[in-house]
Amino acid sequence: MNKDSKIYVAGHRGLVGSAILKNLESKGYRNLLTRTHSDLDLTNQESVSQFFDKEKPEYVFLAAAKVGGIVANNTYRADFIYHNLMIQNNVIHNSYLNKVKKLLFLGSTCIYPKDADQPMSEDSLLTGALEYTNEPYAISKIAGIKMCESYNLQYGTNYISVMPTNLYGPNDNFDLEKSHVLPALIKKMHLAKLLSENNKEQIIKDLSLENFEDAKEYLLQFGVTAESVEIWGSGKPKREFLWSEDMADACVFIMEKRDFKDTLSGSDEIRNTHINIGTGKDISIKELAETIKDTVGFTGKLIFNSDKPDGTMRKLTDVSKLHDLGWNHRIELKEGINKMYEWYVGKQ
Ligand SMILES: NC(=O)c1ccc[n+]([C@@H]2O[C@H](COP(=O)([O-])OP(=O)(O)OC[C@H]3O[C@@H](n4cnc5c(N)ncnc54)[C@H](OP(=O)(O)O)[C@@H]3O)[C@@H](O)[C@H]2O)c1
Repeated sequence: MNKDSKIYVAGHRGLVGSAILKNLESKGYRNLLTRTHSDLDLTNQESVSQFFDKEKPEYVFLAAAKVGGIVANNTYRADFIYHNLMIQNNVIHNSYLNKVKKLLFLGSTCIYPKDADQPMSEDSLLTGALEYTNEPYAISKIAGIKMCESYNLQYGTNYISVMPTNLYGPNDNFDLEKSHVLPALIKKMHLAKLLSENNKEQIIKDLSLENFEDAKEYLLQFGVTAESVEIWGSGKPKREFLWSEDMADACVFIMEKRDFKDTLSGSDEIRNTHINIGTGKDISIKELAETIKDTVGFTGKLIFNSDKPDGTMRKLTDVSKLHDLGWNHRIELKEGINKMYEWYVGKQ
């Protein structure tokens, strides 16, 4: 990639896409191509085809996808498989038709079997049954990996798939009904702190509600009061988290410096060419909640509701392939949580 290469970032307003755009801008790339969802619906084959014909991007970061937490994935199973397959089929196929030089496809570590050995290496793909709740989403991501590999093998393209662990950072989704655990905990603790300070004005503003009574009732549904914050499950499961700007840095590093051939293991059957992206370190939900509580300055109690499901006890990525390719994360979790909370408060 050179500084004038035409680079399309699909999903540039999302958590990862916005961080990729910022990273590219900071490195001096000046020919960046973006479209909002309302300007270009990537599930629409005709529109995507016209866009690629007209714009002819040279490099593509595919960070647009339908993304959600466990409840959304389990409830909107059809939407998750349909939207994601359509987006990636349209973007990958049109990249091929329009001779895109390199494409980076973003998947997720939920592609790995529910009972995969820990830490999960790239080679555990398709070795067992998937977690039921996000199976349709995971199948679409596995199809994306296979699309990239198959086009590379049949047509000689240079498409690389990366599988990030849980991400967090600026522009994250803080909606209590749809967000992932880390932004949800930040928002819950922040609002519980405001409740304990009786800061009605800020609470109403944060939740975009008309009055304080509605806000209190709404927060009660999520176990948030002035005295305590409820957390689903026992707090024992362990999870890994990566700062989204580190993720973006890994994506740009791979686009600049690595090719599909660098991802091959040397065996005759070419598979599992995707690359895990993470820190290789995990933390229990209890420790995470306590760290966020300290960062936010909430002094009430944390109540772990063991009647709610825990999910998989451990999901840690094996990042040795990524390290061998020459990239390591920079932001440790505690520092990232501080930055995230500063960002959240700053945008109020
Ligand atoms: N966040 C994580 O923890 C995480 C973890 C592992 C993997 N990933 C992967 O990383 C990638 C990016 O995730 P993210 O967290 O950045 O997601 P995000 O914040 O939800 O952003 C996704 C972006 O895609 C756009 N988009 C969705 N459907 C579209 C469509 N039909 N046409 C055009 N644009 C569309 C969205 O626009 P609108 O908002 O306007 O719809 C949004 O800007 C995804 O492939 C995801 O699977 C994320």
